[in-house]
Amino acid sequence: MSVDNRRELARRLAAARAGGGEQRIARQHEEGKLAARERVELLLDPGSFVEIDGLVAHRCVDFGMEKQRIPGDGVVCGYGTVEGRLVYLFAQDFTVFGGSLSETNAKKICKVMDLAMENGAPVIGLNDSGGARIQEGVASLGGYADIFLRNTLASGVVPQISAILGPCAGGAVYSPAITDFILMVEGTSYMFVTGPDVIKTVTHEEVTKEALGGASTHASKSGVSHFTYGNDAACLMGIRELLSFLPSNNLDDPPPGRSDDDPDREEPALDGLVPEDPNRPYDIKRLIAAVVDDGDFLEVQAEYAKNLVVGFARLGNRSVGIVANQPAYLAGVLDIDASLKGARFVRFCDAFNIPLVTFEDVPGFLPGTQQEYGGIIKHGAKLLYAFAEATVPKLTVITRKAYGGAYCVMASKHIRTDVNLAYPTAEIAVMGPEGAVNILYRRELAEAGGRAAEVRAAKVAEYREKFSNPWIAAERGYVDAVIEPRRTRPELVRALRQLEGKRQRLPAKKHGNLPL
Ligand code: HXC
Repeated sequence: MSVDNRRELARRLAAARAGGGEQRIARQHEEGKLAARERVELLLDPGSFVEIDGLVAHRCVDFGMEKQRIPGDGVVCGYGTVEGRLVYLFAQDFTVFGGSLSETNAKKICKVMDLAMENGAPVIGLNDSGGARIQEGVASLGGYADIFLRNTLASGVVPQISAILGPCAGGAVYSPAITDFILMVEGTSYMFVTGPDVIKTVTHEEVTKEALGGASTHASKSGVSHFTYGNDAACLMGIRELLSFLPSNNLDDPPPGRSDDDPDREEPALDGLVPEDPNRPYDIKRLIAAVVDDGDFLEVQAEYAKNLVVGFARLGNRSVGIVANQPAYLAGVLDIDASLKGARFVRFCDAFNIPLVTFEDVPGFLPGTQQEYGGIIKHGAKLLYAFAEATVPKLTVITRKAYGGAYCVMASKHIRTDVNLAYPTAEIAVMGPEGAVNILYRRELAEAGGRAAEVRAAKVAEYREKFSNPWIAAERGYVDAVIEPRRTRPELVRALRQLEGKRQRLPAKKHGNLPL
């Protein structure tokens, strides 16, 4: 190689590394954001990043763009490793044309997505962009559509993770929306389809960017995001943690954990977890923490639909997806938001060979016009569909209430759950005792006059004795065993081991018709 060639290569690489220049990088830092390359370095194992298309430049000659060509064109793409496992990534560089998406920039992103699919590795998008590159018009829009197509084709094949680390507006939000997980950073990231100015013009509403589409809005109100962090570095560590529970692709198994937590560990405190009074709440997360390896639980969508807890953990060093009714919030009732949250999580786990463990204490679906008008029928059906369709190993533990349709939905034996366990405190019935007595004994209660309370109490006791227990379900084999709560962990670990070779297929079809 001649000296000139070497010099030219070094010059071009340096220009690519410099991105939009020191001033713009300083501005990123002032705003509390990291630069694209700093993010890549933090996310990946040290020294593992290999850049692809670092010298690609745009071909736009309008609006004086021919005079502004920065190698890399506003997105850093390539591959590297996380805990030694291959991942592909793209990091939008806000210092170059605001990280906006050009035709060539989109081609770079598509290239890493194609490589990820071919090689069976996750795709991670670090988003920080002003959206479609205005100077390129429809070529940029086409670039977005090319990415959306790949997001859709990759769905269920390789995990797709989107970190939102700056602006993400307009149609650009739909790429992250199709991916499996969205992570946001408080104060510096936002997502919306139309921004505050357009909203003001069209609906006369006044709203700030943060209130409209900031991290806490999407974590708690819209349910668009799955994880929230205080800064970029924490978010990037969050991606590494999330990946530790996931396989690299749909034909792979999740990596084994490295815990030495005793698989046979009993937890005597669990015997007192479920209160004697069936109307008293308790925190289901205490049960999860007591049962899983080292109490390590990565909760997904922790701030949204808190009546259903979902997240990743390990049991005997095997990744599992946990779905649990939360009696400490709205009595653990299933509503629209909880159904959507649960259904999406269950489908992700099923697509990626992650066994499902369900902890059930559910009084039923939330009654009311708001829920009915909002479509609880079709949304609740999504959760049912997701559990019924799932072919990964499925385990259920009924801790207390399993009432009505919610009994069927929450991974009951009837929808192909492999192992169904119940605590002696389980109440498996069409509905709670009070509601049942009101319907069954309406006439007797009306005729009882002053003795109505006494008659009701007697009937409730009789109903509870007959139905509010696990025994009838156990006699029919709808639960495989009634266990002491302290033995939850050993029972689940053994059940999971038993199911390691599980193979179950769905009937051949193009795809089902999920009730959307
Ligand atoms: C080209 C862009 C750009 C864009 C920002 N820049 N967005 N260049 N196309 N879309 C450039 C700016 O000109 C500026 O260049 C630099 O990036 C930084 O932008 P600033 O405005 O100085 O930054 P800031 O004040 O932080 O504001 C960020 C911003 C704002 C809120 C994102 O830039 C903005 O409103 N941009 C336009 C957003 C937009 O409407 N995009 C189209 C959305 S529709 P210099 O050289 O001065 O540093 C869309 C459709 C997608 O994306 C459809 C998919 C189907």
